[in-house]
Amino acid sequence: MVKTFSALASHKKILSKKLVKDIKKIVKFAYAPYSGISVAAGIYCASGNTYIGINVENSSYSLTVCAERTALFRALSDGERKFLLLLVYSPQVDFIVPCGACLQVLSEFAPDLMIVTMNKNEEFKFYPIKTLITQPFKIARRKS
Ligand code: THU
Repeated sequence: MVKTFSALASHKKILSKKLVKDIKKIVKFAYAPYSGISVAAGIYCASGNTYIGINVENSSYSLTVCAERTALFRALSDGERKFLLLLVYSPQVDFIVPCGACLQVLSEFAPDLMIVTMNKNEEFKFYPIKTLITQPFKIARRKS
């Protein structure tokens, strides 16, 4: 069992903003006809901007993209590069935690990200990403 961490005042402030409202609103747009598990995620950037995303499944199951990566890719596409907190929510899964693939992708851009998961009652659990993925795969960048 991974230990949970307590929220800093800065985290509470972020969560009191519209991020919670936004992901509860968009979770209905999740495209999950195969699993029936709708997920929404929101990423809070150092710029103060937030980006939200949903899971998108496919009849070729392995092509599914999780909500966390949708949110991250939206932010990256807007030029964001510094991320402070990711909030994830599913009405079907109590305190959903990002899968290993998403943790790998998130840790490439945000090795110090705070991951927050929320249940239906808007209660939160906090996990620094390093507690969920201790050894992300890395390759040294080539010098060009
Ligand atoms: N899923 C997410 O979007 N995020 C997670 O944290 C775990 C799982 C999605 C993928 C798939 O569409 C469905 O939930 C069931 O695995």
